[in-house]
Amino acid sequence: MFQKKQKLFFLANPNNPTGTYLTSSELLELRKKLRKNILLVVDDAYAEYMKNNDYKSGLKLFKNKQNVFILRTFSKIYGLSSLRVGWGYGSKKIIKALNVIKPPFNVNEVAQKAAIESLKDTKFITRSVKHNIIYAKKLKNFLNQYGINSNNISANFLLLNFEKCKFKAKYFYEKLKMKGIILRSTENGYNIKNMLRLTIGSKTDNLKFMRAVKGIFN
Ligand SMILES: Cc1ncc(COP(=O)(O)O)c(C=O)c1O
Repeated sequence: MFQKKQKLFFLANPNNPTGTYLTSSELLELRKKLRKNILLVVDDAYAEYMKNNDYKSGLKLFKNKQNVFILRTFSKIYGLSSLRVGWGYGSKKIIKALNVIKPPFNVNEVAQKAAIESLKDTKFITRSVKHNIIYAKKLKNFLNQYGINSNNISANFLLLNFEKCKFKAKYFYEKLKMKGIILRSTENGYNIKNMLRLTIGSKTDNLKFMRAVKGIFN
């Protein structure tokens, strides 16, 4: 599972763009099976969206663990991606080492202030999580009718599989693009063929997307 010289094991949980994730017991098992001196880095970017019973964030599972480092971001549920702000949680030793290579002022003050304020807006977070689950279900069922299958709902996106659809992912992508709707192609970069990633949007965006899909198929 790991190589002799390996020092780090990086895991995005849930993963992008597949939306798949290791359950809490699987993640604990992974840590047990890794050599002790391999640092396990868990990217919790989508943790706030996760309401699946068998999931626990890296932060919840690995408090005070010397050989685990957790990554968090304000780019997802907090909606602050353009401010480029996130944080990490790990042992003092690792934080100290990171500070040696960290450029000064790497997160500007406005971004820091906005991030702190966004943490207080719990109403927005609760509303966003609910919105995400409702529309992920709606979109998943809606697309199923057209033979477009997707992963089980986890984060704020669906990985659409066109294997059983009468159209290829590429055709669908181009048709939507002409209507001003851009999905993420998984072919370039991820090398995942005939699939597309759909991010759950606002109510207006989701309805626009559904209307556009109806238009493509009818
Ligand atoms: C798994 C994962 N981690 C992190 C990020 C991005 O985080 P940031 O905007 O803080 O660089 C993304 C964004 O797509 C992601 O999918």
